[in-house]
Amino acid sequence: MATMKAVRLHEYGGPEVLQYEDAPKPAPAAGEVLIRVHSTSVNPVDRGVRDGLFKERIKYKLPMILGWDVSGVIEAVGSGATRLKVGDEVYSRPDIGRDGAYADYVVVKESEVALKPKSIDHIHAAAIPLTALTAWQALFDAGELSAGQTVLIHGAAGGVGSFAVQLAKIKGARVIGTASQKNHEYLRGLGADQVIDYNTTKFEDVVHDVDVVLDTITHDTADRSYGVIRKGGTYVSILMPPSQEKAAAHGIHAAHVFVQPNIGQLNEIAKLVDSGKLKVNIEKVFPLSEARAAQELNATRHTRGKIVLRVV
Ligand SMILES: NC(=O)c1ccc[n+]([C@@H]2O[C@H](COP(=O)([O-])OP(=O)(O)OC[C@H]3O[C@@H](n4cnc5c(N)ncnc54)[C@H](OP(=O)(O)O)[C@@H]3O)[C@@H](O)[C@H]2O)c1
Repeated sequence: MATMKAVRLHEYGGPEVLQYEDAPKPAPAAGEVLIRVHSTSVNPVDRGVRDGLFKERIKYKLPMILGWDVSGVIEAVGSGATRLKVGDEVYSRPDIGRDGAYADYVVVKESEVALKPKSIDHIHAAAIPLTALTAWQALFDAGELSAGQTVLIHGAAGGVGSFAVQLAKIKGARVIGTASQKNHEYLRGLGADQVIDYNTTKFEDVVHDVDVVLDTITHDTADRSYGVIRKGGTYVSILMPPSQEKAAAHGIHAAHVFVQPNIGQLNEIAKLVDSGKLKVNIEKVFPLSEARAAQELNATRHTRGKIVLRVV
Protein backbone atom coordinates (compact mmCIF):
# COMPACT_ATOMS: atom_id res chain seq x y z
CA MET A 1 0.00 0.00 0.00
CA ALA A 2 1.33 3.43 -0.92
CA THR A 3 1.83 5.72 2.04
CA MET A 4 2.19 9.43 2.65
CA LYS A 5 2.97 11.73 5.56
CA ALA A 6 -0.03 13.11 7.42
CA VAL A 7 -0.98 14.64 10.73
CA ARG A 8 -3.63 12.31 12.15
CA LEU A 9 -5.57 11.84 15.36
CA HIS A 10 -6.32 8.38 16.69
CA GLU A 11 -8.46 9.73 19.52
CA TYR A 12 -10.13 13.04 20.31
CA GLY A 13 -8.33 15.39 22.68
CA GLY A 14 -5.91 18.29 23.06
CA PRO A 15 -2.99 19.22 20.79
CA GLU A 16 -1.05 16.21 22.08
CA VAL A 17 -3.27 13.81 20.08
CA LEU A 18 -1.91 15.16 16.78
CA GLN A 19 0.54 12.64 15.29
CA TYR A 20 2.81 13.35 12.33
CA GLU A 21 3.12 9.88 10.81
CA ASP A 22 2.74 7.59 7.81
CA ALA A 23 -0.80 7.12 6.56
CA PRO A 24 -2.33 5.39 3.53
CA LYS A 25 -2.20 7.52 0.39
CA PRO A 26 -5.81 8.01 -0.74
CA ALA A 27 -7.08 7.37 -4.27
CA PRO A 28 -9.81 9.31 -6.07
CA ALA A 29 -13.16 7.57 -6.68
CA ALA A 30 -15.63 8.56 -9.41
CA GLY A 31 -16.11 12.32 -9.60
CA GLU A 32 -13.15 12.98 -7.30
CA VAL A 33 -9.63 14.33 -7.75
CA LEU A 34 -6.41 13.60 -5.88
CA ILE A 35 -4.57 16.80 -4.93
CA ARG A 36 -0.87 16.91 -4.10
CA VAL A 37 -1.12 19.25 -1.14
CA HIS A 38 1.37 22.13 -1.24
CA SER A 39 -0.16 24.04 1.67
CA THR A 40 -3.14 23.86 3.98
CA SER A 41 -4.29 26.28 6.65
CA VAL A 42 -5.33 26.10 10.29
CA ASN A 43 -8.89 27.06 11.20
CA PRO A 44 -10.59 27.06 14.63
CA VAL A 45 -12.86 24.24 13.41
CA ASP A 46 -9.79 21.98 13.22
CA ARG A 47 -9.40 22.30 16.97
CA GLY A 48 -13.11 21.73 17.48
CA VAL A 49 -13.03 18.49 15.51
CA ARG A 50 -9.81 17.45 17.29
CA ASP A 51 -11.45 18.05 20.67
CA GLY A 52 -14.43 15.89 19.65
CA LEU A 53 -16.97 18.75 19.61
CA PHE A 54 -18.45 17.55 16.31
CA LYS A 55 -18.34 13.81 16.93
CA GLU A 56 -22.10 13.47 17.42
CA ARG A 57 -22.88 15.42 14.24
CA ILE A 58 -20.16 14.03 11.99
CA LYS A 59 -19.25 10.35 12.32
CA TYR A 60 -15.52 10.46 11.59
CA LYS A 61 -13.66 7.20 11.30
CA LEU A 62 -10.48 7.36 13.42
CA PRO A 63 -7.63 7.75 12.71
CA MET A 64 -8.58 10.85 10.76
CA ILE A 65 -6.88 13.81 9.12
CA LEU A 66 -7.81 17.44 9.88
CA GLY A 67 -7.53 20.44 7.57
CA TRP A 68 -10.24 21.88 5.34
CA ASP A 69 -8.26 24.27 3.19
CA VAL A 70 -5.94 23.19 0.43
CA SER A 71 -3.81 24.63 -2.33
CA GLY A 72 -1.94 22.20 -4.52
CA VAL A 73 -1.65 20.40 -7.83
CA ILE A 74 -3.96 17.77 -9.34
CA GLU A 75 -2.11 14.45 -9.17
CA ALA A 76 -4.85 12.14 -10.49
CA VAL A 77 -8.49 12.31 -11.51
CA GLY A 78 -11.20 9.72 -10.86
CA SER A 79 -13.57 8.50 -13.57
CA GLY A 80 -16.12 11.09 -14.56
CA ALA A 81 -14.00 14.00 -13.33
CA THR A 82 -13.63 15.91 -16.59
CA ARG A 83 -13.25 19.60 -15.76
CA LEU A 84 -9.80 19.39 -14.13
CA LYS A 85 -6.66 17.64 -15.38
CA VAL A 86 -3.40 16.37 -13.95
CA GLY A 87 -1.04 19.30 -13.31
CA ASP A 88 -3.75 21.94 -12.72
CA GLU A 89 -2.95 24.26 -9.82
CA VAL A 90 -6.03 24.34 -7.64
CA TYR A 91 -7.47 25.41 -4.31
CA SER A 92 -10.46 24.19 -2.34
CA ARG A 93 -12.33 24.00 0.90
CA PRO A 94 -12.86 20.23 1.03
CA ASP A 95 -15.88 18.53 2.60
CA ILE A 96 -15.51 18.75 6.38
CA GLY A 97 -17.11 15.31 6.79
CA ARG A 98 -14.08 13.48 5.43
CA ASP A 99 -10.29 13.43 5.74
CA GLY A 100 -8.70 16.86 5.30
CA ALA A 101 -5.45 18.26 3.99
CA TYR A 102 -2.93 18.08 6.86
CA ALA A 103 -1.22 15.56 4.56
CA ASP A 104 0.80 15.04 1.41
CA TYR A 105 -2.39 14.22 -0.52
CA VAL A 106 -6.11 14.81 -0.17
CA VAL A 107 -9.05 13.51 -2.18
CA VAL A 108 -11.73 16.10 -2.93
CA LYS A 109 -14.90 16.04 -5.04
CA GLU A 110 -14.09 17.73 -8.35
CA SER A 111 -17.18 19.91 -7.86
CA GLU A 112 -15.49 21.50 -4.80
CA VAL A 113 -12.18 22.37 -6.49
CA ALA A 114 -11.37 25.61 -8.37
CA LEU A 115 -8.26 26.83 -10.19
CA LYS A 116 -6.16 28.76 -7.69
CA PRO A 117 -5.38 32.47 -8.13
CA LYS A 118 -2.43 32.67 -10.55
CA SER A 119 -0.69 35.65 -8.98
CA ILE A 120 0.00 34.12 -5.56
CA ASP A 121 1.86 31.05 -4.30
CA HIS A 122 0.30 27.98 -2.68
CA ILE A 123 1.03 29.28 0.81
CA HIS A 124 -1.16 32.32 0.23
CA ALA A 125 -3.79 30.41 -1.78
CA ALA A 126 -4.23 27.85 1.01
CA ALA A 127 -5.11 30.68 3.38
CA ILE A 128 -8.16 31.64 1.34
CA PRO A 129 -10.92 29.07 0.74
CA LEU A 130 -12.59 28.35 4.08
CA THR A 131 -12.45 31.83 5.56
CA ALA A 132 -13.04 33.83 2.35
CA LEU A 133 -16.03 31.63 1.45
CA THR A 134 -17.40 32.10 4.97
CA ALA A 135 -17.03 35.87 4.72
CA TRP A 136 -18.62 35.89 1.25
CA GLN A 137 -21.56 33.69 2.21
CA ALA A 138 -22.18 35.60 5.46
CA LEU A 139 -22.01 39.08 3.92
CA PHE A 140 -23.65 38.53 0.56
CA ASP A 141 -25.79 35.36 0.71
CA ALA A 142 -27.12 35.68 4.28
CA GLY A 143 -26.60 39.41 4.88
CA GLU A 144 -27.45 40.55 1.33
CA LEU A 145 -25.01 43.43 1.86
CA SER A 146 -25.07 45.93 -1.01
CA ALA A 147 -23.21 49.06 -2.09
CA GLY A 148 -23.82 52.07 0.11
CA GLN A 149 -24.86 50.00 3.13
CA THR A 150 -22.98 49.81 6.44
CA VAL A 151 -21.71 46.60 8.03
CA LEU A 152 -20.33 46.06 11.52
CA ILE A 153 -17.83 43.17 11.66
CA HIS A 154 -16.99 41.66 15.05
CA GLY A 155 -13.54 40.06 15.05
CA ALA A 156 -12.44 42.04 11.99
CA ALA A 157 -8.71 41.18 12.29
CA GLY A 158 -9.13 37.39 12.30
CA GLY A 159 -9.10 34.93 9.43
CA VAL A 160 -12.74 35.48 8.47
CA GLY A 161 -12.76 39.14 9.48
CA SER A 162 -9.74 40.11 7.37
CA PHE A 163 -11.49 38.85 4.23
CA ALA A 164 -14.87 40.22 5.30
CA VAL A 165 -13.53 43.76 5.70
CA GLN A 166 -12.00 43.69 2.23
CA LEU A 167 -14.96 42.00 0.50
CA ALA A 168 -17.42 44.46 2.04
CA LYS A 169 -15.27 47.40 0.86
CA ILE A 170 -14.98 45.92 -2.63
CA LYS A 171 -18.80 45.72 -2.66
CA GLY A 172 -18.93 49.45 -1.88
CA ALA A 173 -20.14 49.18 1.70
CA ARG A 174 -19.05 51.25 4.68
CA VAL A 175 -17.15 49.02 7.12
CA ILE A 176 -16.91 49.23 10.89
CA GLY A 177 -14.71 46.62 12.56
CA THR A 178 -13.97 45.61 16.15
CA ALA A 179 -10.46 44.60 17.21
CA SER A 180 -7.92 45.38 19.90
CA GLN A 181 -5.88 48.56 19.47
CA LYS A 182 -2.83 46.76 18.05
CA ASN A 183 -4.85 45.78 14.96
CA HIS A 184 -6.40 49.15 14.15
CA GLU A 185 -3.77 50.28 11.66
CA TYR A 186 -3.94 46.87 10.01
CA LEU A 187 -7.72 47.15 9.65
CA ARG A 188 -7.52 50.65 8.21
CA GLY A 189 -5.01 49.25 5.71
CA LEU A 190 -7.62 46.67 4.69
CA GLY A 191 -10.11 49.48 4.11
CA ALA A 192 -12.09 49.70 7.35
CA ASP A 193 -13.75 53.11 7.70
CA GLN A 194 -14.13 52.93 11.47
CA VAL A 195 -12.42 50.71 14.03
CA ILE A 196 -13.54 50.09 17.59
CA ASP A 197 -11.33 48.79 20.38
CA TYR A 198 -13.60 46.28 22.08
CA ASN A 199 -11.41 46.47 25.21
CA THR A 200 -12.19 50.12 25.85
CA THR A 201 -15.39 50.94 23.95
CA LYS A 202 -18.80 49.28 23.90
CA PHE A 203 -19.70 49.14 20.22
CA GLU A 204 -23.38 49.76 21.03
CA ASP A 205 -22.41 53.17 22.45
CA VAL A 206 -20.95 54.33 19.13
CA VAL A 207 -22.69 52.30 16.40
CA HIS A 208 -26.31 52.72 15.34
CA ASP A 209 -28.59 51.73 12.47
CA VAL A 210 -26.19 49.49 10.56
CA ASP A 211 -27.65 47.35 7.78
CA VAL A 212 -25.73 44.16 8.62
CA VAL A 213 -23.73 42.77 11.53
CA LEU A 214 -21.29 39.93 10.83
CA ASP A 215 -20.47 38.27 14.14
CA THR A 216 -17.40 36.03 14.33
CA ILE A 217 -17.19 36.32 18.13
CA THR A 218 -20.66 35.62 19.58
CA HIS A 219 -20.00 35.46 23.26
CA ASP A 220 -22.12 38.35 24.41
CA THR A 221 -21.91 40.15 21.07
CA ALA A 222 -25.11 38.55 19.72
CA ASP A 223 -27.51 40.04 22.25
CA ARG A 224 -25.70 43.37 22.19
CA SER A 225 -25.81 43.56 18.39
CA TYR A 226 -29.56 43.39 17.78
CA GLY A 227 -30.10 46.96 18.97
CA VAL A 228 -27.49 48.49 16.63
CA ILE A 229 -29.17 47.15 13.47
CA ARG A 230 -31.78 49.20 11.61
CA LYS A 231 -35.30 47.77 11.29
CA GLY A 232 -35.28 45.21 8.50
CA GLY A 233 -31.49 44.76 8.71
CA THR A 234 -29.71 41.46 9.32
CA TYR A 235 -27.59 39.90 12.05
CA VAL A 236 -25.39 37.07 10.75
CA SER A 237 -23.58 34.71 13.10
CA ILE A 238 -20.98 32.18 12.00
CA LEU A 239 -21.05 30.51 15.43
CA MET A 240 -24.27 29.94 17.34
CA PRO A 241 -27.62 29.99 15.52
CA PRO A 242 -29.11 33.29 16.73
CA SER A 243 -32.43 33.67 18.57
CA GLN A 244 -35.19 34.26 16.02
CA GLU A 245 -37.49 35.49 18.81
CA LYS A 246 -35.06 38.20 19.92
CA ALA A 247 -34.39 39.23 16.32
CA ALA A 248 -38.14 39.48 15.61
CA ALA A 249 -38.60 41.58 18.75
CA HIS A 250 -36.06 44.05 17.31
CA GLY A 251 -37.63 43.98 13.85
CA ILE A 252 -34.52 42.49 12.24
CA HIS A 253 -33.56 39.27 10.45
CA ALA A 254 -31.11 36.82 11.99
CA ALA A 255 -29.17 34.13 10.16
CA HIS A 256 -26.57 31.49 10.84
CA VAL A 257 -23.99 30.53 8.22
CA PHE A 258 -22.02 27.32 8.10
CA VAL A 259 -19.65 27.59 5.16
CA GLN A 260 -20.45 25.50 2.08
CA PRO A 261 -18.15 24.58 -0.81
CA ASN A 262 -18.81 26.86 -3.79
CA ILE A 263 -16.49 26.94 -6.79
CA GLY A 264 -18.37 29.83 -8.42
CA GLN A 265 -17.49 31.94 -5.41
CA LEU A 266 -13.90 30.59 -5.32
CA ASN A 267 -13.56 31.65 -8.97
CA GLU A 268 -14.81 35.16 -8.14
CA ILE A 269 -12.43 35.34 -5.17
CA ALA A 270 -9.50 34.22 -7.37
CA LYS A 271 -10.32 37.03 -9.83
CA LEU A 272 -10.32 39.58 -7.01
CA VAL A 273 -6.93 38.28 -5.80
CA ASP A 274 -5.43 38.31 -9.30
CA SER A 275 -6.66 41.85 -9.92
CA GLY A 276 -4.89 42.96 -6.74
CA LYS A 277 -8.12 43.97 -4.98
CA LEU A 278 -8.12 41.21 -2.34
CA LYS A 279 -5.03 40.62 -0.20
CA VAL A 280 -4.16 37.52 1.78
CA ASN A 281 -2.75 38.21 5.23
CA ILE A 282 -0.70 35.54 6.95
CA GLU A 283 0.30 35.58 10.60
CA LYS A 284 2.74 32.65 10.41
CA VAL A 285 3.73 29.65 8.28
CA PHE A 286 4.65 26.33 9.92
CA PRO A 287 5.88 23.09 8.35
CA LEU A 288 3.22 20.35 8.39
CA SER A 289 5.18 18.45 11.03
CA GLU A 290 4.59 21.37 13.42
CA ALA A 291 0.80 21.32 13.14
CA ARG A 292 0.54 21.10 16.91
CA ALA A 293 2.40 24.40 17.43
CA ALA A 294 0.29 25.96 14.67
CA GLN A 295 -2.92 24.90 16.42
CA GLU A 296 -1.65 26.17 19.75
CA LEU A 297 -1.02 29.57 18.16
CA ASN A 298 -4.52 29.52 16.64
CA ALA A 299 -5.93 28.70 20.08
CA THR A 300 -4.72 32.07 21.43
CA ARG A 301 -7.62 33.57 19.41
CA HIS A 302 -5.57 36.72 18.86
CA THR A 303 -3.78 36.01 15.60
CA ARG A 304 -4.07 38.38 12.63
CA GLY A 305 -5.21 36.88 9.35
CA LYS A 306 -4.27 33.24 8.79
CA ILE A 307 -1.91 30.49 9.95
CA VAL A 308 -0.63 28.23 7.16
CA LEU A 309 0.93 24.75 7.11
CA ARG A 310 3.49 24.27 4.36
CA VAL A 311 3.63 20.72 3.03
CA VAL A 312 5.88 21.02 -0.05
N1 LIG B 1 -19.73 28.91 10.51
C1 LIG B 1 -18.67 28.77 9.76
O1 LIG B 1 -18.76 28.24 8.65
C2 LIG B 1 -17.34 29.28 10.24
C3 LIG B 1 -16.29 29.41 9.31
C4 LIG B 1 -15.08 29.94 9.76
C5 LIG B 1 -14.91 30.28 11.09
N2 LIG B 1 -15.94 30.08 11.96
C6 LIG B 1 -15.79 30.46 13.38
O2 LIG B 1 -15.64 31.87 13.43
C7 LIG B 1 -14.75 32.23 14.47
C8 LIG B 1 -13.67 33.11 13.90
O3 LIG B 1 -12.89 32.36 13.00
P1 LIG B 1 -11.51 32.95 12.48
O4 LIG B 1 -10.88 31.95 11.61
O5 LIG B 1 -11.72 34.34 11.98
O6 LIG B 1 -10.74 33.02 13.89
P2 LIG B 1 -9.34 33.67 14.25
O7 LIG B 1 -8.59 34.04 13.03
O8 LIG B 1 -8.70 32.78 15.24
O9 LIG B 1 -9.79 35.01 15.02
C9 LIG B 1 -8.81 35.69 15.71
C10 LIG B 1 -9.22 37.15 15.81
O10 LIG B 1 -10.29 37.33 16.74
C11 LIG B 1 -10.15 38.63 17.28
N3 LIG B 1 -10.86 38.70 18.56
C12 LIG B 1 -10.74 37.89 19.63
N4 LIG B 1 -11.61 38.27 20.60
C13 LIG B 1 -12.30 39.35 20.10
C14 LIG B 1 -13.35 40.17 20.60
N5 LIG B 1 -13.88 39.98 21.83
N6 LIG B 1 -13.84 41.16 19.80
C15 LIG B 1 -13.33 41.37 18.57
N7 LIG B 1 -12.32 40.62 18.04
C16 LIG B 1 -11.82 39.64 18.80
C17 LIG B 1 -8.67 38.82 17.44
O11 LIG B 1 -8.39 40.18 17.33
P3 LIG B 1 -7.58 40.90 18.53
O12 LIG B 1 -6.24 40.17 18.60
O13 LIG B 1 -7.49 42.31 18.09
O14 LIG B 1 -8.40 40.66 19.76
C18 LIG B 1 -8.07 38.02 16.28
O15 LIG B 1 -7.68 38.84 15.21
C19 LIG B 1 -14.22 30.91 15.06
O16 LIG B 1 -14.92 30.62 16.24
C20 LIG B 1 -14.54 29.88 13.99
O17 LIG B 1 -14.77 28.60 14.53
C21 LIG B 1 -17.15 29.61 11.57
